[in-house]
Amino acid sequence: MISTVLNDIKCNIHFDSNEHYVWPRITKNVEKNVINQLHKSISIYNRSGILKEFEDSFSEYHNVKYALLSNSGTNAIFSMFEGIGLQPGDEIIAPTYTFFATISPVIYTGATPVFCDCDATGNITVAEIKKKITDRTKAVIVTHMWGMPCDMDEISHLCKKRNLYLLEDCSHAHGATYKGQKVGTFGDAAAWSLQGQKIITGGEGGIMLTNNEEIYYRATLQGHYNKRCKQEIPENYELSKFSLTGMGLKFRAHPIAISIALEQFSHLDEFIAQKNIYAEKMISSFAKYPFLKVPSYENKSPSWYAFILQYDDRFSNGVSIDEFCEALHFIGLKEVDRPGSTAPVHNFPLFTEKSKIMPRLYNSTDHNQNDDDYSNAILFYKNAIKLPVWAFKDEENIVNTYIKGIESICDLVVNNPTVLKRG
Ligand SMILES: Cc1ncc(COP(=O)(O)O)c(C=O)c1O
Repeated sequence: MISTVLNDIKCNIHFDSNEHYVWPRITKNVEKNVINQLHKSISIYNRSGILKEFEDSFSEYHNVKYALLSNSGTNAIFSMFEGIGLQPGDEIIAPTYTFFATISPVIYTGATPVFCDCDATGNITVAEIKKKITDRTKAVIVTHMWGMPCDMDEISHLCKKRNLYLLEDCSHAHGATYKGQKVGTFGDAAAWSLQGQKIITGGEGGIMLTNNEEIYYRATLQGHYNKRCKQEIPENYELSKFSLTGMGLKFRAHPIAISIALEQFSHLDEFIAQKNIYAEKMISSFAKYPFLKVPSYENKSPSWYAFILQYDDRFSNGVSIDEFCEALHFIGLKEVDRPGSTAPVHNFPLFTEKSKIMPRLYNSTDHNQNDDDYSNAILFYKNAIKLPVWAFKDEENIVNTYIKGIESICDLVVNNPTVLKRG
């Protein structure tokens, strides 16, 4: 039975529109770019046109030499793995708390993913990485979860010291910085998704950056055969004779997608500045509740891909996270989410039973890591409540409505918890 208290709160909440969070915003400029591109070219074979324009501005923004667009973030990550030549016998250290595509392409290389637990912010830590290094470790990949940069100086210092490749999955973190330095510039290569929900999006797409010539050539050969390879790979490079066929795969980006992404990219810093204002407002509104842990980010400027609250039911007067979220949904806050597929990945069959799905590269004795301690990641996942962080000034009303709605339910948790309990 729904209490009258909740009904009253619901009646007091007014939404200007049925759409609470619209991303990306299809502006007149986006429409114009798409139409222009439609008449110019819908398939580009080499590094030219809109693909070159995007790659140039993305690499300039990050001050990195080589950029390589592809048709997904997953393939941009796969290109990094091919770029560093991962192979059977190698180990690559990865976060367990991430979206699985951070590491899933590894099973095409025969290398073994070795998973790490996270800290209280959801990110991989240098201490965990240290524990997992063996003499077979070739690389470390980190994900800046939800747009919150990892502690990159410690991690890059360790990788340099131990002679390991450092790769960054920046799919949540376009434009984020750590101690003033942009994420994606700390290691040997970095990849970004440009998929529909991402801060810069073409609907589908991905991009890789590197300063390392060898990584760039191998990645180009992997998925960009013929004209682009012939244009980019010098004849004296040992694999240049493969330029016509590449490695047999095709990861080319769609020009229409990139025309959408390019327009958005020109607003990235504005998006982040506005998101920052809203995120700070959310933090100062929710920090007063002992059962909600708000993001903290000293030395970091997050991209605010999402705003993750950690629910602590030790202080919630018996109101469970399910009951809390149910109440938020009941009063109409439909964007409140509990992330599902972004979860600890170490027990996914893709990693624990690699030999079943990829018997040509793995055998049944390949170990899995079920017994390791991933308790922080499991807890972070269980307690995560995700909110969007709006990016436009004209969305102030919806942001305020969400804040007011969440505060009303939080006040009930504190003062009148029984109305929220199911039974
Ligand atoms: C952290 C992370 N890495 C990689 C990807 C894969 O990107 P894509 O969907 O563009 O292949 C995603 C997509 O959601 C992601 O969130």
